[in-house]
Amino acid sequence: MNQTTIHQLMATKWIANAESNEHFHGFSMRLATNITLVKDLFFALYPEKKHPASFEKLLKVLEQLFNARSTALKNQDLERLREGNWYQSEQIVGMQLYADRFNKNLNGVTQKLSYFDDLGVNFLHLMPITTRPKGANDGGYAVNAYDKIDPTFGTAADLLDLTAKMRSKKMYLMLDFVVNHTSNEFPWAKKAIAGEAKYQNYYYTYPNREIPNEFEKSLPEIFPETSPGNFTYNAAMQRWVMTVFNSYQWDLNYTNPEVFIAMFTNLMHLVNLGVDVVRFDALAFLWKKIGTDSQNLPEAHQLIALFRLCLQIVAPGTVLLAEAIVAPKQIVKYFGQGNLEGNECEIAYNATFMALLWNSIATRKTLLLHQSLAHLPKKPAEATWINYIRCHDDIGLGFEDQHIYDIGWSAPEHRKFLLDYYCQRLDWSPAKGLLYMYNPNSGDGRITGSAASLLGLEKALLQKDTTKIAQAIKKITMLHAIILSFGGIPMIYAGDEIGTLNDYSFLKEKDKKEDSRWVNRPFQNWQTINTLGKKDSPANQIYATIKNLIAIRKKHTVFADQNNFKLHYSPNPHLFIYQRAATTADTIWIICNFNDTRETITSTFLEGIGCNLNHGIKDLITKKTYSKKKPLHQLDPFEILWLKLI
Ligand code: GLC
Repeated sequence: MNQTTIHQLMATKWIANAESNEHFHGFSMRLATNITLVKDLFFALYPEKKHPASFEKLLKVLEQLFNARSTALKNQDLERLREGNWYQSEQIVGMQLYADRFNKNLNGVTQKLSYFDDLGVNFLHLMPITTRPKGANDGGYAVNAYDKIDPTFGTAADLLDLTAKMRSKKMYLMLDFVVNHTSNEFPWAKKAIAGEAKYQNYYYTYPNREIPNEFEKSLPEIFPETSPGNFTYNAAMQRWVMTVFNSYQWDLNYTNPEVFIAMFTNLMHLVNLGVDVVRFDALAFLWKKIGTDSQNLPEAHQLIALFRLCLQIVAPGTVLLAEAIVAPKQIVKYFGQGNLEGNECEIAYNATFMALLWNSIATRKTLLLHQSLAHLPKKPAEATWINYIRCHDDIGLGFEDQHIYDIGWSAPEHRKFLLDYYCQRLDWSPAKGLLYMYNPNSGDGRITGSAASLLGLEKALLQKDTTKIAQAIKKITMLHAIILSFGGIPMIYAGDEIGTLNDYSFLKEKDKKEDSRWVNRPFQNWQTINTLGKKDSPANQIYATIKNLIAIRKKHTVFADQNNFKLHYSPNPHLFIYQRAATTADTIWIICNFNDTRETITSTFLEGIGCNLNHGIKDLITKKTYSKKKPLHQLDPFEILWLKLI
């Protein structure tokens, strides 16, 4: 399709219509802006000769989906466009939660909106709420329908009520779009099982092991303990189907343009419920190719850009979050690179940073943290991070071996140490985590556990050791102070704000006991929350500190992600030091101590990074001031300072 054909299409189909309707005018303009890019990406993945009618079908679908979007959301789209990169604001503070575990269901969440107000949270990530198979369903990541609310959570009306109330409070909502796979009960899967060749081609299905065996030669396993291999035999269909995650999660075949168009339609159904950020689940896996590990392939990036550019045409107020828990250098690529720069996801999980924080806690040193951050490629200016400590998944040791060697450690021994430290294989370690997907042959494994239990609170409480309890609390609040000041959206995992411990009840549930990620999917403890402010407990101290930190963050625009982050090398290997600076006058230095003893810092060093004691400096958290006469010499164990010139 050449440009003339595109202009003819625009003139006959859209431009004439647009004159009479303001919103449609916006749609036509956005279509005109993106259409060439969309076309190039589409034909790169789906050559025109092979799929002659598909592109025109996509254009028709875009128009239909735009027409189906409510006027309220269309108005909001325009406001967002005028507002610019709203997701980079210092005002945004997130919380991730399971609606049913938080407070029974969606209505329960609506009833607790004042809880978020009190803490200062205004951005919610609700874990999957759509229909899923009974029994094992990967916490809802096996999807039976993209737009039907599972009755456990309530109804579509309950969701609309929640989103309307959130919008009136200027709160933002993030929902998952499980883009890589559906459940084996999804209507397409059912039709495939019933023998419909069209739908068998919506997934990677094969009559025998020939092609699966070829794939298996280079495909790694995601859940080796619970779901070994990447294909599952379906006896009713008499075919093998690709199931990279669990056997009941069927990988979608995006080499088929029908799948892309149908999935974009599903995405829009979800977005039209009033979603501000879409979490693109497991997006690194979207394209499969024999002979590769089928992760992070260039075609996956083209496909994501295609989703993004189409979404921008239909619903430009909605942005995408990359859930790419992959190698550090690969993650930034999901913001888009080369001619796709800035045209994939606006937001990505800062998974490397998360893993490095856990590494620094275990080693009490910040060498690897510094070495890795110093070598990370830059993100595009319009993009931002979600900074987090814990989420519903395991912690993978996602940093590069080379950086471990660079600081003089052995990578395999160091990785083993971290698993030992967190997973109760060292007597002296304060952590109470569990090993996840451990492979005794390779020694590879991941870690599960709640932040508080991994940081020593559970063990300290058991031992009734007040010093250790105090230390665990300091670690919990220091890590939160880091994600609140690093640049990007801080995402608090519900329960961490009150120091929730591991929940071992999953061990008694048939469909959960094999998956220790459930140890960190606790029920929100409202009994404890009701005592906040009344009783001096660890929960109270943690909550009050985090609330205070959030309030301070929101008062300082320098915390907005204006690409104003500067990392400093610390001569003291236990300190982590960075700076957020808009102008010299508007600068905040962040210094934290990962050691369990006091650590010194010299005035010469502080002056060297511009933190000049001559002016006098103030710690925004404790409100203590320092000067030439009263210099800052040392930090307490796990202390964090947010310093500003007076
Ligand atoms: C993502 C989710 C995880 C899920 C997987 C498969 O990584 O965070 O919980 O198991 O995708 O959908």
